[in-house]
Amino acid sequence: MSKNQTVKPKYLSDGEVRKEGGYAKTIYQTLHYAYKPFLARIVFVLILGFLGRGLLLANTNVIGYWVDSLIGKHSPVSDLSSLQIIGLLLGMALTGFVSTMIFRVSFSRLSAKAISSFYDEVTLRTSRLPMSFFDKTPAGRIITRFSSDYGNVFRLFGGPLAEFLSIIFDLIMMTILITIANPIYLLLVVFIGVLNFGVYKLNQDRLRKARRELSASRSPSIAHFAETTQGASTIRSFRRQESFKERFESLDRYFLSQKLFTTKQLISFSFQMNSMTAFLLLITGVASYFMVEKGWASVGSVGVAFTFISLSGNTVQMFFEWLTQFEEAMIGVERLDQYMRMDIEEGNYLPSTAHFATGHPTYDPTAEKYLAHRRLTEDRSASVEINNLWFRYRDDLPWVLKNLNFEVKAGERLGIVGRTGSGKSSLIQALFHLYPISKGLISINNHPPKIKAEDKGVDLNLYRQSMAFISQEPILFQGTLRFNLDIEGHHKDESLHEVLQKVGLLEWVQAHPDSLNMKIEERGKNLSLGERQLLCMARCLLQQSPIVIMDEATSSVDPQSEEILVRATEEFFADRTQIIIAHRLSTLAKCDRILWLQNGEVIALGPTAEVLPKFKKAELV
Ligand SMILES: Nc1ncnc2c1ncn2[C@@H]1O[C@H](COP(=O)(O)OP(=O)(O)OP(=O)(O)O)[C@@H](O)[C@H]1O
Ligand SMILES: [Mg+2]
Repeated sequence: MSKNQTVKPKYLSDGEVRKEGGYAKTIYQTLHYAYKPFLARIVFVLILGFLGRGLLLANTNVIGYWVDSLIGKHSPVSDLSSLQIIGLLLGMALTGFVSTMIFRVSFSRLSAKAISSFYDEVTLRTSRLPMSFFDKTPAGRIITRFSSDYGNVFRLFGGPLAEFLSIIFDLIMMTILITIANPIYLLLVVFIGVLNFGVYKLNQDRLRKARRELSASRSPSIAHFAETTQGASTIRSFRRQESFKERFESLDRYFLSQKLFTTKQLISFSFQMNSMTAFLLLITGVASYFMVEKGWASVGSVGVAFTFISLSGNTVQMFFEWLTQFEEAMIGVERLDQYMRMDIEEGNYLPSTAHFATGHPTYDPTAEKYLAHRRLTEDRSASVEINNLWFRYRDDLPWVLKNLNFEVKAGERLGIVGRTGSGKSSLIQALFHLYPISKGLISINNHPPKIKAEDKGVDLNLYRQSMAFISQEPILFQGTLRFNLDIEGHHKDESLHEVLQKVGLLEWVQAHPDSLNMKIEERGKNLSLGERQLLCMARCLLQQSPIVIMDEATSSVDPQSEEILVRATEEFFADRTQIIIAHRLSTLAKCDRILWLQNGEVIALGPTAEVLPKFKKAELV
């Protein structure tokens, strides 16, 4: 192990968290939540499966009895004719086969459902984690949990677990049946069990550690790959392909060395197990010889014992191979469970559809239903109050906004100016309460969001819904144009056409063969930046929120489209409260007031005609 640790790249150390020792205790609780709704059905099919495997294996015992009765020894089948015995064997095999099939199919289906519900619950919670989690965690690392780790989980719990259980049933049944054939063999079985378990225990920690290390070493290379594909054009223009390639290769080499190490551990384990089976068969042979010699065992029962012990060599080997997969799956469960147990952002709730009792605040169904139809205000505009606001992204980072105090009146149009990095976009983040506000208060129509249980205020989601936002980077999602405009699918085509008409995109959309079903690629990359901004504007129009916030919405459009956006602020949003951040000062000419920020502090706040010229003058110096 130490040899492998020396090649570990240093950036892994601040990456994945490695766990040592046993699984986190919570994962058993998690699996219980996942399987609970299916418990009765699962118990039924488990019993069916157990009996099915038993019937199939018990054929060996019947044959053993048959042999004994053929050589003239009394056995439970002595009174049956050969034809009857063959009938019995056929009946047992058929019933066993059908029961096993029903078990396999039903159990796989139920288990797949249970484990998918776990995935859903993890997704529900991860999507509500605090923004600081997404700031600190590379996308690749999150993707690894939901792809490769979940892949390991589903690869077992999604079906093959039935196979693993069949093997366990076989081992239990073999023990029972061998004991029925001759109780003395139970001693041998216990001896074999202890030896196998000992070998497994000797290897267990090493195998588990190797597998955990393997899971953790996968994500840095995926994270780097994701980052590289996103920044491909920049990397090319700076001709930095080599250094990115080298970093990827070094991460990938590390992953491969881990893979090789894990494989070596597995091969060594498998070799130990194989050697042991050979040794055990030898012991069984010698022991049986003496037992028949001394009259302690019948020939039939020796046959049964030999069949089961040579069969069990294979089954035990398979059992441990499956145990390996099982452990890999459990580590996957553990890694997803870790995300599921994290605290979600303060003030937010899980939807009432969340079933796992993880202690996260969850909407009460009645409250959720009530909130779904409620708006913070039915008016067309709302006021925003900011009192003694101090804001920073994390406790260990410097203040980004320092003691802000102002009010935006309902229906007012406020422009925000300031040099780059002065805190304009951060003010919007604070308005949406995307990060915890450590000092001060922000409210809409004098309603602050309710963050802690003891706070007075309105539901955080209701509070956020009262603001529509066009960000500095227009955000579009993979899907159709219709989906991007109307994410919740509430609106009719006419309404969509109407807003597209307003932003000047209707002709462009109608000229496209798929019209509203036009495909939008990931992050809208098949559209120009201007088109993206106009679409976001259309989405904002559809939302009908009393407050509209625009961050640099006119930075990437041509003069004609800029005019549309400026018109939007003047006409379409005329009766809304507007907060507009712009570098292009012409965009702000029609604002009622201007807020000038510098290093997170308010330098001036007053009528446009007063503040804008001052800001222009200061900027030119
Ligand atoms: N997610 C973040 N985590 C930590 N610090 C951040 C984060 N986002 C912004 N900052 C910091 O906050 C400060 C203000 O950034 P902000 O984005 O608010 O500036 P801005 O006024 O919008 O600038 P621009 O005009 O360039 O858009 C900057 O120093 C920036 O480094
Ligand atoms: Mg900004």
